[in-house]
Amino acid sequence: MFAAGHDTRKSPMPEWTDVAPVSEFGPGQSRLVTVAGVAIAVFNLDGSYYALEDVCSHDGSPLLGCGLDQAEVMEGDQIICPRHGARFCIRTGAALTPPAYEPVPCFPVRIQDGMVQTRDNRWD
Ligand code: FES
Repeated sequence: MFAAGHDTRKSPMPEWTDVAPVSEFGPGQSRLVTVAGVAIAVFNLDGSYYALEDVCSHDGSPLLGCGLDQAEVMEGDQIICPRHGARFCIRTGAALTPPAYEPVPCFPVRIQDGMVQTRDNRWD
């Protein structure tokens, strides 16, 4: 029996969110999804999927969702902030160049029944 205000059970884990069918999300492509109000950029790099919060750690600019074409903000496995040019590793979220010094959060990606899915696991 739990007393009011003393329930120590964890809240349910956040649900996985569909990004795109694997068949429609090939190498070199990216997608932007929103999970509980958080913009998440998902990338297929040579057949492996990666997900990052779509926000620059320098001053909050959207990265993939900035309105430019993917080709203008991606170079290999890096995403480039359109505002001041900081580069981040898509595979790890690491800040690679100033003026960003903090990483961008990364999220898990899975394939379930042919669907690429991601979730914000920061509150697990
Ligand atoms: S907001 Fe991204 S580098 Fe400044």
